[in-house]
Amino acid sequence: HLHNQQEETTTEWYDQNQRDLPWRRINNSDEENDDDDKDGSERRAYAVWVSEVMLQQTRVQTVIAYFNRWMQKWPTIHHLARASLEEVNEMWAGLGYYRRGRYLLEGAKLIVEEGGGFPKTVHTLRKVRGIGDYTAGAIASIAFKEAVPVVDGNVVRVIARLKAISANPKDSATIKNFWKLAGQLVDPCRPGDFNQALMELGATICTPLSPTCSACPVSGQCHALSVSRHSSVLVTDYP
Ligand code: ADE
Repeated sequence: HLHNQQEETTTEWYDQNQRDLPWRRINNSDEENDDDDKDGSERRAYAVWVSEVMLQQTRVQTVIAYFNRWMQKWPTIHHLARASLEEVNEMWAGLGYYRRGRYLLEGAKLIVEEGGGFPKTVHTLRKVRGIGDYTAGAIASIAFKEAVPVVDGNVVRVIARLKAISANPKDSATIKNFWKLAGQLVDPCRPGDFNQALMELGATICTPLSPTCSACPVSGQCHALSVSRHSSVLVTDYP
């Protein structure tokens, strides 16, 4: 089955080629687990939340230092919930879009006050102000293994090329369609790794202008690449 083959190769490629990023190191074997978080998934959810919010409008290389400083000051959601808006704004200085930091603080206070632990599904995560489809999908799949898709600009480009879809990537119907397509592709056994694999492919291999198709694990299944081999249409003509 083509889909399964695609899932496996993409996730296997990710196992071998993922970048070493600080939020990926916070996982189930972390030492600072407390009793309420035996498998570390809540620590991981918190780290994924902070990193994905920072990554929404800021490049990875810039986010790394901000993320490390943030986690040093507020290592858990409980620490963050006791912070002031002034401290958060000070920590956010230089990142821009300060609303993002405020929503993290307000969300942390809400989640801690409710006392039910970190929300674990897209449905419950979406109730936190500032957590949209993208962040909810990332936290639910990466930290809690819910088999849901995550679609950002990188993922749109990877899927558009794989399936040779040319459509306006800014159009809301197009975006909806890509969420649907990504939902059909996601690996139910390792949804978080699969989603990050697609984002990683888009960031490092399937880049907008000069994709490195020779290093791509799914080049054999890529319709944009096969079309461009037989015509003047280029891989890069897809969004
Ligand atoms: N860009 C934003 N979030 C990412 C992630 N989790 N992995 C790779 N690239 C990303």
